[in-house]
Amino acid sequence: MTDQENPPLWERGMLSVAQREQVTGHRGMVVWFTGLSGSGKTTVARALDHLLHGHGKRSFLMDGDVLREGITSDLGFSPEDRTENLRRFTEVARLFANAGTITLVSAISPYEASRQQAKERIGSERFLMVHVATPLEVCEARDVKGLYAKARAGELKQFTGIDAPYEEPVNPDLKLVPEDGDPGVMAHAVYDALVAGGFLGGE
Ligand code: ADX
Repeated sequence: MTDQENPPLWERGMLSVAQREQVTGHRGMVVWFTGLSGSGKTTVARALDHLLHGHGKRSFLMDGDVLREGITSDLGFSPEDRTENLRRFTEVARLFANAGTITLVSAISPYEASRQQAKERIGSERFLMVHVATPLEVCEARDVKGLYAKARAGELKQFTGIDAPYEEPVNPDLKLVPEDGDPGVMAHAVYDALVAGGFLGGE
């Protein structure tokens, strides 16, 4: 190797995503889970995180509920606040993806415009949109956090699916419905989609 090809460390430019991907053997990317509250987004994403980790991949789960405790703790659920919430999630997810991580975002993300902006900002070649399409009746019957009951009682305003909209994803890469099976089966389906899309390298 000539000196030109192998300059001293301090004269080299920023490490590229491609260089990081050479080390991990997989794409730095974002898997974005959208769906109603209680649809199972986070449960499936968590299962996928374990699956990826078990296969030696670098993955990380960005859960909307957790991020809302910190980086977007100043925001509520008005259309403007949700848009800003998702814009910040997008920026953080983009940084993680650029660091080479398979970043799993779990957020209701009810607006098509926000989801499209996320895809554009992160790059369609490193982005997979998963719609956890559990019907409202099922989410409401589960009511894991008791929020649907509060929303029906009028104690919680602007609740997605009750008095705030959820825009169906126009063209998700993957759509999961309860008939597909339990969250473990769904996580495997997403994993298979990552393999089929060539995101995981030579598997
Ligand atoms: S998003 O619309 O901005 O994407 P995000 O996923 O971050 O929402 O947060 C949704 C979570 O906040 C829900 O799972 C629920 O626990 C809680 N939440 C509190 N108020 C509302 C509301 N009005 N609408 C939806 N979710 C709410």
